[in-house]
Amino acid sequence: MIRVTRPALGDAELRAIKAVLDSGFLTQGEQVARFEARVAAVTGSAHAVAVSSGAAALHLALMALGVGPGDEVITSDFSFPATANVIEIVGARAVLVDIDLATFNLDVTQVEAAVTARTKAIMPVHEFGLMAEIEPVQQVARRRGVAVIEDAACALGAVQRIAGRMVPAGSAGTVGCFSFHPRKCVTTGEGGCLTTSDPALAARLRALRNHGLEPGPGGAELRAPGLNYRLNEIQGALGVAQMERLDWALAERRRLAALYDEALAGCERLQLPQEPKDSRHAYQSYVVLLPADVGRDMVIERLRAAGIEAVRGAYAIHRLAYYRARPSNTASRFPSATDADARALALPLYAGMPDAAVQRVADAMRGIVG
Ligand SMILES: Cc1ncc(COP(=O)(O)O)c(C=O)c1O
Repeated sequence: MIRVTRPALGDAELRAIKAVLDSGFLTQGEQVARFEARVAAVTGSAHAVAVSSGAAALHLALMALGVGPGDEVITSDFSFPATANVIEIVGARAVLVDIDLATFNLDVTQVEAAVTARTKAIMPVHEFGLMAEIEPVQQVARRRGVAVIEDAACALGAVQRIAGRMVPAGSAGTVGCFSFHPRKCVTTGEGGCLTTSDPALAARLRALRNHGLEPGPGGAELRAPGLNYRLNEIQGALGVAQMERLDWALAERRRLAALYDEALAGCERLQLPQEPKDSRHAYQSYVVLLPADVGRDMVIERLRAAGIEAVRGAYAIHRLAYYRARPSNTASRFPSATDADARALALPLYAGMPDAAVQRVADAMRGIVG
């Protein structure tokens, strides 16, 4: 079976984990700090705060920015549900905006119209590893005095030219949120990280991930209740070893994506992943858009019969029961996300995937789609 993804793990990870077990020190410490330093360096951020998942990172970002009941946060309708869930969990309202079907990212032309007096933040999602168009989002956020929270769960290593400067995902907003789930380019099993250039925000995030406890000269103080969202040392050590592979993993993903592009080029009925000229895609997933007259379930079944795993892309959040129940979330407002919900398909892609496997998947897709 050609799996949709496989983490790249080896002896370096085993040695790193064994060293932690041998040390007997398992909870957040030196290894997590080393991992944070690497994430900060890669994202060009002054501060990185590791947490237990991507959802935890998004949750803490909202808590640290004081988003709560009565507030609204604007985000993309096409994402993993965690993006909108955390907004609702803090008691605020997720205001969903449709996407641009070519990139699967937020349609930035619709963002300003979604801003109200209650808007506290805009949360663009860098879907499948391609950064959302950030400059227009930054401009709206500046004009309206709201924060930008990047859902960069899938986008470690993605870059976008903004005002003539190459800006890595995670440093284009007030705060960036990453996931290190095994489907991501770098994994800690489960894990996440926040990045920011704001030292006060970083300090609040560090306290919130550790029950709200802040270190101080007279001992720990607690100004706001927090959670236990710490990453442990085993995960930290795994993350450090994984970060050593990052440049290779990103380059491999790009190379394999280009192989797919080439092998599927004649298949005009498929929309292949786009890379706008000012963006460098991190290819967390290679997601194609199927023709409207080809059922995705049938394609998944036929690929499976050929020994190939493929899965849906992401979710049109407004279609999920909790969000569907809200009268404002009518399907007519989200034509592109609805289309992507039905037609987006993630093909196998991971660093270390053999070239012949890419060819096999492409051949099977051509046979099925025509
Ligand atoms: C866009 C996006 N946001 C948030 C998350 C949540 O990350 P985690 O699974 O690490 O909680 C995911 C997970 O895949 C995601 O794809």
